[in-house]
Amino acid sequence: MRASIRTSVPVRHAAMLGVGAYRPRLVVDNDQVAGLIDSSDEWIRTRSGIRSRRWASEDETIVEMATAAASAALESSGIDPERIGCVLLATISNLRQTPAAASEVATRLGAVNAGAMDISAACAGFCYGLALAGDIVRGGSAEHVLVIGVERMTDLIDDRDRGTAFLFADGAGAAVVGGSDEPGIGPVVWGSDGSQAELISQDHSWLDWRDQLAKDPSAEAPALRMNGQPVFRWATVEMAKVARRTLEAAGIDVADLDAFIPHQANDRITEALARSLRLPSSVAIARDVVEQGNTSAASVPLAIDALLSSGAARSGDTALLLGFGAGLSFAGQVVVLP
Ligand SMILES: CC(C)(COP(=O)(O)OP(=O)(O)OC[C@H]1O[C@@H](n2cnc3c(N)ncnc32)[C@H](O)[C@@H]1OP(=O)(O)O)[C@@H](O)C(=O)NCCC(=O)NCCS
Repeated sequence: MRASIRTSVPVRHAAMLGVGAYRPRLVVDNDQVAGLIDSSDEWIRTRSGIRSRRWASEDETIVEMATAAASAALESSGIDPERIGCVLLATISNLRQTPAAASEVATRLGAVNAGAMDISAACAGFCYGLALAGDIVRGGSAEHVLVIGVERMTDLIDDRDRGTAFLFADGAGAAVVGGSDEPGIGPVVWGSDGSQAELISQDHSWLDWRDQLAKDPSAEAPALRMNGQPVFRWATVEMAKVARRTLEAAGIDVADLDAFIPHQANDRITEALARSLRLPSSVAIARDVVEQGNTSAASVPLAIDALLSSGAARSGDTALLLGFGAGLSFAGQVVVLP
C-alpha cells in the first residue's frame, strides 16, 4: 500500500496581527522637486494632492527599511521572529536582483525558521502578499507570515520627468499575519492585464542599457515612465468595479465599512473612488499620499499605519484594501485592522 503524506493542520481563519512602518528621514516638499520639471507647488497639489514626500538616503536601503518596518510589525503583533514561517517581500525597486531581499531581511530579523521570497506586483504588491499570507496560514504551511512592502522609487525615476518625478517616493510597511478565531482577511479579487504593460514601465531594460553603455558611456540608465491619463482613467473606472467585487466577495456592504485604504497613487484617484463607491461620511479614508507621495508596494501598509496611529481608524475596524498599478495589476481584499 502506498504511504500517505502527512499534512500540516490548517487553521480556519487568518488575520493581520500587527503592522509597522518605516518612513525615510528626508522630507522633500513640492518646491524642491518643481524646479527640474518646470512645475509648481500649486500644480502638484491640485493634480495629485501631494504636499511632500520622503526620499531615502544612501544608508536607507531596501533591506534596512524593510527590516525596520518588519521589526515594528513584529513588536506590535507580539510575535517572536522565530515563529515566522515565511517572509514575503513586495518590491519593484530592489536593484540588486539576486538574492531576494526577503532572505536577508529574514536573517536580520532573526526569523531563522522562515522561507523567504520577493514578490513583483508593483503597487499591488502588498495586497498580493497579504492574499498569499492568508492562504499560507490557512493552508498550514506556516503559522505566521511576515508581509513587507518596500520601495526606493527614487532609484527608478528620472528627476526631470514631469509625469513621475513629483509622484513617487520611498518607504516601507509590514504586517504579521497569523491564525485567528474570526475571519480577518477576506477573499482576494485580483488580476492583471499585460496588454497595457506599456502604460507604466521601464523605458528600456537593464540588458539594453548594458549594450548601450558599450557604445556610449553616457547612456542613461532605465527609468520608470508612465502615461498618466489612461492610468488615471483605468484606476478610477476599473478599480471602482474591483472594489465593488471585493466587497461582494466578502459579503460586506459599504455601510459596514470603517475604513477605505486604497493604494496611495494620487489623492484625486482616491477621491474619485470614494465618490464612485458612495462611501458614507463615517468611513475613514487613507490620505497618506499627501505627505508620503506614491510609495508603490509600501503605500498600503504605510497608509494602514497612518490611519491607526492618527486614531482615524482603530483595531477591529473593517477596512477595504485596494492595490493597483504597473502590470496593469490589482488586488483587493476586505480586512479587519489589527
Ligand atoms: C500624472 C498626472 C497627475 C498628470 O496630470 P494630467 O492632468 O493627466 O496632466 P497632463 O499630462 O494631461 O498635462 C496637463 C497639462 O499640465 C502640464 N503638465 C504635465 N506635467 C506637469 C508637471 N509636472 N508640472 C506642471 N505642469 C505639468 C502639461 O504640459 C499640460 O499642459 P497643457 O494643458 O498646457 O498642454 C495624472 O495623469 C495622474 O494622476 N495620473 C495617474 C497617475 C498615478 O496615480 N499613477 C500611479 C498609479 S500606480
